[in-house]
Amino acid sequence: MHLFSICHPVPFLGLISAALVAPTSETLEYSPVEPRHVARRAAPDSPSGNYAPQTVDCPNQRPSIRNARTLSDSETSWLESRRPKTIDPMIEFFRRADLEDFDAEGFVNANSQDFSVVPNIGIAISGGGYRAMMNGAGSLATADSRVEGSLDAGGLGYLLQATTYLAGLSGGGWLVGSIFANNFSTVINLRDGAEDSNTWELSNSIFEGPAKLEGVGVLNTIEYWRDVEGSVDKKRSAGYEVSITDYWGRALSYQLINAPHGGPAYTFSSIADEPKFKSADTPMPILVADGRRPGDTIISLSSTVFEFNPWELGSPDPTVYGFAPTRYLGSNFSQGSIPENGSCVRGFDQLGFVMGTSSSLFNQFLLQNISSSDIPSFVAAAIDMVLTGIAEEDNDIAIYQPNPFYGYRPATNPFAETEQLSLVDGGEDLQNIPLHPLIQPNRKVDVIFAVDSSADTNSNWPNGTALRATAERSREEAIANGTAFPAVPDAETFINLGLNRKPTFFGCDTSEFEAGHIPPLIVYIPNAPYTYNSNFSTWKPSYSDQERNSAIENGWNVATMGNGTVDSQWLACAACAILQRSLERTGTEIPGTCNSCFERYCWNGTTDSTPVDYQPTSVLDEGATGNGGVPVSGHPLLRGLIGVTALVAVF
Ligand SMILES: *[C@@H]1O[C@H](CO)[C@@H](O)[C@H](O)[C@H]1NC(C)=O
Ligand SMILES: *[C@@H]1O[C@H](CO)[C@@H](O)[C@H](O)[C@H]1NC(C)=O
Ligand SMILES: *[C@@H]1O[C@H](CO)[C@@H](O)[C@H](O)[C@H]1NC(C)=O
Ligand SMILES: *[C@@H]1O[C@H](CO)[C@@H](O)[C@H](O)[C@H]1NC(C)=O
Ligand SMILES: *[C@@H]1O[C@H](CO)[C@@H](O)[C@H](O)[C@H]1NC(C)=O
Ligand SMILES: *[C@@H]1O[C@H](CO)[C@@H](O)[C@H](O)[C@H]1NC(C)=O
Ligand SMILES: *[C@@H]1O[C@H](CO)[C@@H](O)[C@H](O)[C@H]1NC(C)=O
Ligand SMILES: *[C@@H]1O[C@H](CO)[C@@H](O)[C@H](O)[C@H]1NC(C)=O
Ligand SMILES: *[C@@H]1O[C@H](CO)[C@@H](O)[C@H](O)[C@H]1NC(C)=O
Repeated sequence: MHLFSICHPVPFLGLISAALVAPTSETLEYSPVEPRHVARRAAPDSPSGNYAPQTVDCPNQRPSIRNARTLSDSETSWLESRRPKTIDPMIEFFRRADLEDFDAEGFVNANSQDFSVVPNIGIAISGGGYRAMMNGAGSLATADSRVEGSLDAGGLGYLLQATTYLAGLSGGGWLVGSIFANNFSTVINLRDGAEDSNTWELSNSIFEGPAKLEGVGVLNTIEYWRDVEGSVDKKRSAGYEVSITDYWGRALSYQLINAPHGGPAYTFSSIADEPKFKSADTPMPILVADGRRPGDTIISLSSTVFEFNPWELGSPDPTVYGFAPTRYLGSNFSQGSIPENGSCVRGFDQLGFVMGTSSSLFNQFLLQNISSSDIPSFVAAAIDMVLTGIAEEDNDIAIYQPNPFYGYRPATNPFAETEQLSLVDGGEDLQNIPLHPLIQPNRKVDVIFAVDSSADTNSNWPNGTALRATAERSREEAIANGTAFPAVPDAETFINLGLNRKPTFFGCDTSEFEAGHIPPLIVYIPNAPYTYNSNFSTWKPSYSDQERNSAIENGWNVATMGNGTVDSQWLACAACAILQRSLERTGTEIPGTCNSCFERYCWNGTTDSTPVDYQPTSVLDEGATGNGGVPVSGHPLLRGLIGVTALVAVF
């Protein structure tokens, strides 16, 4: 079954032998600039005060579905505040990057009012369960100027502050969702938490439940699950279909949202009212899921990709080509509007449910571990009830009923005739990095830092599969709808050329693209071993603090190339990647420093498809040149002679 095709179904490993335990892991001490606690964001704004959606008076302007031709008015006006706020951090980033032969600060300063010139940055955090959350966290920590060390050698400090969009998918969505659920706290504050906080406390598995006092008394496993079942039951009693994803999302919330009971009344749309987001002092969060009709299987070439943002849920794909207001999900939309005799509903877009939707593959994880875990039997029975009548291959579905796209664009919308919109894990179409929202031409993104924590190889490291899925889709005119994407090579080439062991740029040479259809430059940041083997199985349910902290630290090292020890010019090269599209648009000569960076970091079309088994050792031991690959067959010399063919990448 294709469900498991994203992540190898590696035999369940309760413990991972950590060959590369970081010597510094326990001594890693940050003194965050922010107070050392995880702030609560006061937005449990579901009108019911609990997990159930509730009917409310419709606002004067009745909620409706809009077509995807433009960005929403909300996003457009937010961008008018956000883009200017990225200027100062970008200047700080460039000052630190110090391109000796180009005045990047001056360039940004001179164009600081012209947003068709200054770079527009996006960050995309891949799926891959807790592994992806932790590795992604390391990269966001070093990009965040509030975190100590991010402004030291090799640190990417201010990148996050200079970013417009922050997208997450599945495990990457837990990271992005958790940051925004908790007042845009730093990763370090989330990791360390407050005394009584369970946030990012992963030593107790999701099956066991949180260990600590959380303002509501100590929860034991039975009470925790009773709590989960009770809240899901409130939704069911209010007349809404529930799915396994409701249980999964509720359980996840105890680890991700710092509020009593994991914040059953917290909504995703409340982020739009969160002061730091509203004032455009943070990037815009986006979570990704795929549409799938019951019984169908999906592949990247035909899937409809949905995004959740604080204002809207929808898809720019030519199928659905529409967006619904996130805040009013649960209302009975029909043909794009709520009929005059219909009422409005709020509180459907529960934050944990949205994070659970993007990671619905983990429904399997819940189901398959019910019998062997501490989940009490009354919960197993309740879940069993949900499963009645659902085919096994459909138990990963998150049910959105009523379907906001019911009767909408029936000529092209595969969901127009179903009362239920079913969404699944954003990685199920193999596009495991949430690039889709960031390559939409309307968003005009110039560069995407794409953090890949996929478990593609037998050894649970990425091999570029996610990039290939998005690249292939962009060549499929019927679904691509104007999106473009750089060419990327096969998995063997990623391994043999070491493209999955160090940051690699794709799409540097824009002559590869049709004029007027130039996609963002991709800065691919693949998970690789630096100070720790963070390649945990996707299904490992619990992590000691030491495992968690070491994985986050390795993620930091991945994104900084070991604080610049592998390449002291890495920060400058990242700056060049950010600037590339802007320089080209303005006809500015590419500085020598950048040319030399592009020679080193851009994939230039060379391939080496020799079969290979990837069992990497630390990048720090080998330097960036080793590829970590052991050829499966063939003499290494022969491979050197025949394997490397220079190809002009034309698709
Ligand atoms: C959110 O964080 C800011 C500091 O960044 C702080 O001033 C504010 O009080 C926090 N809000 C809540 C609800 O804790
Ligand atoms: C880089 O710096 C961070 C903290 O600033 C530290 O945790 C990490 O171990 C350092 N990396 C290396 C390779 O020393
Ligand atoms: C995208 O799809 C929509 C809906 O089918 C269509 O109207 C629009 O022209 C398409 N855009 C491009 C650039 O192909
Ligand atoms: C609203 O009106 C339509 C058509 O008049 C009818 O079919 C539908 O059942 C009504 N819905 C409700 C909730 O009363
Ligand atoms: C939505 O439609 C369904 C089916 O017609 C109906 O049972 C439900 O009460 C309606 N909900 C609202 C809020 O109008
Ligand atoms: C837990 O679920 C995962 C994913 O479905 C599965 O691979 C694993 O074997 C299960 N573990 C146990 C102990 O059943
Ligand atoms: C690359 O990853 C895919 C899964 O994403 C896997 O099927 C394939 O075997 C991998 N290839 C190599 C050489 O690792
Ligand atoms: C392309 O990159 C490879 C290394 O990946 C290098 O060996 C080769 O010389 C480069 N070719 C050109 C034309 O720059
Ligand atoms: C992690 O990677 C190391 C080195 O490549 C490998 O030996 C180990 O088996 C991998 N662990 C898992 C759980 O895949």
